[in-house]
Order: sequence, then C-alpha cells, then structure tokens
Amino acid sequence: MLTRPDVAVVGAGPVGLAIAWRCAARGLRVVVHDPAPGSGASHVAAGMLSPVAEAYFGEHELTGLLAESAARWPGFAAELAEAAGTDLGYRTEGTLVVGLTGDDLAEAGRLWSYQQGLGLPITPLRPSQLREREPALAPRVRGGAVAPGDHQVDPRRLVAALRTAAEQAGAVLVPGAVARLADVDARVTVVAAGCGAAALTGLPVRPVKGQVLRLRAPGGAAPELRYVIRGYADGESVYLVPRTDGEVVVGATVEERADTEVTAGAVLRLLRAAVDLVPDLAEYELAEASAGLRPGTPDNAPILGALPGRPGVLAATGHHRHGVVLTPVTADLITELVVTGVADPLLAPFTPARFTGRDGDGRAPAVEARRPRPDRSASEEERTWS
Ligand code: GLY
Repeated sequence: MLTRPDVAVVGAGPVGLAIAWRCAARGLRVVVHDPAPGSGASHVAAGMLSPVAEAYFGEHELTGLLAESAARWPGFAAELAEAAGTDLGYRTEGTLVVGLTGDDLAEAGRLWSYQQGLGLPITPLRPSQLREREPALAPRVRGGAVAPGDHQVDPRRLVAALRTAAEQAGAVLVPGAVARLADVDARVTVVAAGCGAAALTGLPVRPVKGQVLRLRAPGGAAPELRYVIRGYADGESVYLVPRTDGEVVVGATVEERADTEVTAGAVLRLLRAAVDLVPDLAEYELAEASAGLRPGTPDNAPILGALPGRPGVLAATGHHRHGVVLTPVTADLITELVVTGVADPLLAPFTPARFTGRDGDGRAPAVEARRPRPDRSASEEERTWS
C-alpha cells in the first residue's frame, strides 16, 4: 500500500478481521497488523453463540449486547459465507442446558429462571423430552432446558473466511507485531489485540486462561450429539460443541492465569464431566488439548470506542468469554464509528472512558472513503488508488 492507510487494525482475530472486512467494504484503505493471524483466543474457542445460556446475574448491559449481536449472526454468517465462498460451520440446532445430579440441576435451574425472568428464550424440559431431543445424554442426567436461539460456529473456519473476505475487499495483512501504537501510521487505529491491548493502551484487560479439548468421533463419523450441551456435572461446568465433521469441543476452564500450559488435572475434570453427561464420548479420540487466554475486563464486558486523550485510537477489545458471538455487532458499530465519527448509543455502556477516568465524548475523527468500494471494476480501482 503506497499511501497512508485510513484504518490500521491491530489484531487479526475474528473481531479485528471483521472490522477490517467491514471498513474495506466501505471503501477505506485498511491494514491489519498481526504476527500470527487467528492464533489467539479464537484458535482455542469453541464458538458458542450463546446469548441466553451465557447471560449471568448482574450483567444486564452485556446480556443486551449479546442478544443484539446474536440477532445479527444469521445475516452476518450468510454474507460472510458468500463473500469468502466457504462453510463457516454455522449451526442453528440450539443448546441444551443440563444438570447431572439434583444439585447440578438446581444450580442450572436457578440461572435459567433468571434468564427467563429477563424474557430470554429458554424453556425447561422433562427428562423424557430432553432424551428425545438428544438420545446420547446419559440416562442419569436429571433434567434440563432448551435455548433454541443459542447456536454455534467454528471459530477456525470463521477466521479463515474473514481473512479471505477482508483481503478480497482490499484489506492488507501485515505480518508483524505492533510494540507501540506510535509505530502505527494511519488516520485511525483500532486496537483489537485481545489481551495485547493492555500493553498498547493501558486499558485493564487481563488474561483469563481457558483449557479446551477436541475429541473426534471414531471412524470419521458425525458425533451422536446434535445440540450444543452446556452441562453441570458434579459441580463442574462444561460445554460440548459437536461439529458435523466429527469433532466435539469440550470446554473450558476459567483460570486467573496467563500461561497456556495444558494440565493433567484440567483434562481429567473436563473429560470426566463430558463422559458423565455423554458416555459415548469415552470412545472418541482425544485429538487436541489446548489453552488460550480470554481478554477479561473488570466488569466482564468488552471495551469499545474512542480512547479518551488518544485522538484517532479506538478500542475493540476485552470480549472475554464472548468474542465470537460479539463479532458482528462489534464490527458494525466500530466501522460506523470510524466512518461517521459518531458513536452509536449501543456503545455507551462499553466505552473505554468507564475505565480511563477521563471523560470522552465518544466521538472519533470521521474517515471518508478515498477509494471506491470493492464492488467497482478493477480498472476503476487502479485509476483511483495512488
Ligand atoms: N465462551 C465460552 C468460554 O469462554 O469458555
């Protein structure tokens, strides 16, 4: 790229790439800096699109944003699959929340009563109804509920598709780490660097370790499971995410640690909970055990918007447990902020100003497109680029 970019995105995970795609599609000149695109939290993530089963006590604003983003997912997935020409592993069968023992069911039921109280779509099922929907569940599972709007996508396929779509729209990937924002030359810089945002911006983003397993059905068959299972099993919380290609993702620990070692104890606990809930999983191959670092924040909500006192710098980070589900809404709102300079009211609860102790008006310098949108002809594009 010969001229100064309009937008530099730091971080090529789902959030950074989706912002790059959206901005490039609006005719902006975009570069994305990352030494290893897609190698952060999303590489480990299971890809649950779970606005209901992940709605927790006291997180009202976040729950609203999760619902908003989940509502954008069907359109986002269709548009991206079309743009990239690939299958994202997007599945809409829904999620079953289940409790193994009476105590587990009581814990799960307390949370879904809260979720129902917010008007979220989750419906308790009798044990027979549960097994009708998912016969692979252990007979001793005591009960559960269905959240039909909690879906899934394969984050590794998602990242690959976003990279293709962003590059096709004109974004340029620059393989390299950004040590200081001062080294980035662009009209607007978007920091979408996950945990790396802390060192670049001083924002309170901390690593929250998650260990995750990937099992594989014998003989390359599809897993018996159809639904995403969010289970409570003898006090352990576990989720099982079945893919059509035979993989079942089993997650995840939540640890206040910054290393990415896989520990025997975590593997043991995850597998025990998984096999207690779905006994057939004992026959599956243990294909992968990995650990990633979620970008956590003090209130568990993302940090989105203009950095006070740092003209031209926007944050899109701190997505913690929700990076994949929040990708569409984050990309849409940050792109709109870049293009118009005006923050959508949806961003108000998530501004960096809530942590920086300095008031910002949330505005950013509006960046007008200086090149044609990518749907114009190549010759037209060549003429306009300088
Ligand atoms: N979203 C699930 C997790 O972070 O473990």
